[in-house]
Amino acid sequence: MPPENDGTNGNIPVHVGIIMDGNGRWAKQRGLPRTAGHLEGLKTAKRMVKEASDRGIKYLSLYVFSTENWKRAAGEVSFILGLVKQYLLKEMDFSRENRIRVRHAGNMAGLPEDIAGEIRKACEETRDFTGMQVILALNYGGRDEIVRSVNRAINEVNKNAEGSARVQGLTEEAVRNFLDNPDIPDPDLVIRTAGEFRISNFLLWEGAYAEYYISPKFWPDWTGNDLEEAIGSYGKRDRRFGGVTEGKT
Ligand code: IPE
Ligand code: IPE
Ligand code: MG
Repeated sequence: MPPENDGTNGNIPVHVGIIMDGNGRWAKQRGLPRTAGHLEGLKTAKRMVKEASDRGIKYLSLYVFSTENWKRAAGEVSFILGLVKQYLLKEMDFSRENRIRVRHAGNMAGLPEDIAGEIRKACEETRDFTGMQVILALNYGGRDEIVRSVNRAINEVNKNAEGSARVQGLTEEAVRNFLDNPDIPDPDLVIRTAGEFRISNFLLWEGAYAEYYISPKFWPDWTGNDLEEAIGSYGKRDRRFGGVTEGKT
C-alpha cells in the first residue's frame, strides 16, 4: 500500500508534478531552433530540483517525454533523449551530494536500450538515498501506465488462480498497486508551464485529486520564485476530496 497522503506537510505539497512545457515557444521567440529551448529547459529542470528540495518537497515528478512526443521530428526526439542521457551521466554527483533519489515512470520497454540502461543505473545507484525523490516521467503516458498496470494485475491474479477461478474483476487498490511507482503518494500539486489548460496524459490516475496550477511562463523562464508562488497558491486551496470542509459551506 502507498503511504497515506493527507497533504499535511504544513502547507507545502508532499508531491509536486510539473508539466514542463514551452521549450519550443521559448526558442521560437528568440529565433532559435527548438533544440535550444530543450537545452535551456534542462538547465531549468536542474535548478528546480534544487529549489524544490530546498523547500522541503519530498517527491518531484517531472514530465520529460510523453508517449505522444514520438510524433515529433526524429532529430528533436533524439536530441531530447540525448539530453536525458547526458543529465543522468553528469548529475550523479549532484544526486549523491544532495541524497536525491532518482526514479522512473513510464514505459521502459519503448526506450532505446542505452537510455533505459542509464535510467536503471541511476535508479539503482540512488535507491537508498533519503532526500527528495525525483521521478522522471519518460516515455510516460497516463493511459499507457493504467493499461500496463491492469495487465500486470491480471497476470498476477491469473498466476495464482486455476481454470474458472480466473480473474473476475479488478479493484481500485489492485490497479493502484501495479502502477509504475505504487509506493509514491499521489501528487498534491500539478504545475503546467506555458499557459495550456490541459493535462496531456500526465498522471491521469494519480492526479485525480491533485490541485492544478497553470503558469503563463515558458519552462526555460521558470525560477524559484515561480515555484514559491505555485506553492503559495496551493497553500490557500481548500482540498475537499469530495467531502465538505467544516465551516466553509
Ligand atoms: C516541452 O516543451 C518539452 C517536451 C514536450 C519534450 P515543448 O517542446 O512542448 O514546447 P512547445 O510547447 O512547443 O513550446
Ligand atoms: C506535454 O507537453 C509533455 C511534456 C511536457 C513532456 P506537450 O507539448 O507534448 O503537450 P501538448 O501537445 O501541448 O498537449
Ligand atoms: Mg508543448
